[in-house]
This record gives sequence, structure tokens and C-alpha cells, in this order.
Amino acid sequence: MTDLIRIVYISRATFPITPDSDGIEPNVARILSTSRTNNRKNGLVGMLYYGDGCFFQCLEGETAKVQALYRTLLKDPRHTDLKVLASEPIKRLSFPDWSMKYVPVDEHMLKLLEEHGFETFDPYRFDHHLVERVMQLLQGVPDPTAPVVEARASAPARTVLSVTDPLPEAPQAPDNTARISLAISFIALVISLIALLVSLDLV
Ligand SMILES: Cc1cc2nc3c(=O)[nH]c(=O)nc-3n(C[C@H](O)[C@H](O)[C@H](O)COP(=O)(O)O)c2cc1C
Repeated sequence: MTDLIRIVYISRATFPITPDSDGIEPNVARILSTSRTNNRKNGLVGMLYYGDGCFFQCLEGETAKVQALYRTLLKDPRHTDLKVLASEPIKRLSFPDWSMKYVPVDEHMLKLLEEHGFETFDPYRFDHHLVERVMQLLQGVPDPTAPVVEARASAPARTVLSVTDPLPEAPQAPDNTARISLAISFIALVISLIALLVSLDLV
């Protein structure tokens, strides 16, 4: 069996915080794009949150590959002060549908922060409990940057789904089965009727 690991780390962006604007911060968009391409190739999955100038990232996959990526991340000048919050072996991937799920700041996160007395997203001050709550929240929030089809197509083939994984809604395939069986029943009825009429010499 493949030896899987999850790491959760935080870091500070070195690029300036842009005031609230529609859409995703351009530096973050570039990071996401590279991450999705590379992670897909390497069978890695994960999730990235960016808020108030801080990153919160969860990476999962083969131990050697995750560790190699973390060494690359340490040298990336777009962030600094990397701090590992959790590093643990796992049995299955928690984000099998996402080569890199992106979670934007939303009202649930703001509410959670407020409940814990935070005015901004400052993961350096989070305790273990809050890290867990943030992870749960981020797992449940849909990713607006990745269409479902793209996300599913990019899922590594050997991943296992966990019951806790929030799957985005799959587009509904039109259900023609009911219509076809209704049509067959109708034709069968008409044939039986004709056979009955013929047997009674009515036609
Ligand atoms: C916060 C942050 C998260 C990143 N996450 C990933 C990642 O999940 N996967 C990845 O390949 N690169 C990630 N990168 C980018 C890497 O540091 C590095 O630039 C990239 O892997 C180099 O890819 P390339 O050799 O294809 O240019 C991240 C960078 C930052 C700043």
C-alpha cells in the first residue's frame, strides 16, 4: 500500500494585500494554476486558503512527494515564515477531487474567527482546536474556481473516497429510462389490443 501523508502548514504572503476586489488575487491565481498542473502530475491533492495576507495549505499524497514539494515551498519567495501545524500519516486522501482546492474567504470563516475572538485570519495564533475547525470548514466549502467537471477529470485515478468528503454536485444526466420503458409498455399494450381484436374477428 502507498505510504500517504498529510501536512498542514501556514505562511505569510510576501506580496501586498490587495483591497477587497471581485475575484481571486492574481498572485494566488498563478500559484493555484501551477499547483493544479504539478499536483495532478504527482498524484498530490490538497487545499489552499488565502486570507489577510496569510496562507493555510493542506497537502496530501505520497510521503516522498509531499516532502519534496514542501522543500520547494520553503524556497518560494512569494511567501515566508512557513510553519508546519500538522504532519501525519493518513489512510486515504481527504481531497480526492481536488489537485488543489481553493477556498475563498467567506462568511462561515469570518463567523468562526469572530467566535474565537479573531478580527483577521491569523493562523499563527490558532490553537489545535481552531486548526481542526478551520480544516473541517475548508473541507465543506465548495471551490468556486474549479468547475466540477474539471475537478473530477483531474482526480488521481487511484484515490479512495472518504465518507466525509464533500463532493461537489455532479451534473444530472437526463433520465430517459423511465420514458423508454413507458413507450415499450404502450407499444406492447397496442399490440395486445390488436391481437385481441384479430382473435375476436373484429378486424
Ligand atoms: C502558498 C503557496 C502554495 C503552493 N502550493 C503548491 C502546490 O501545491 N504544488 C506545487 O506544485 N506548487 C505549489 N506552489 C509553487 C511552488 O512553490 C513552486 O513555485 C512550483 O512548484 C514550481 O513549479 P514549476 O517548477 O512547474 O515552475 C505554491 C507556492 C506558494 C507560495
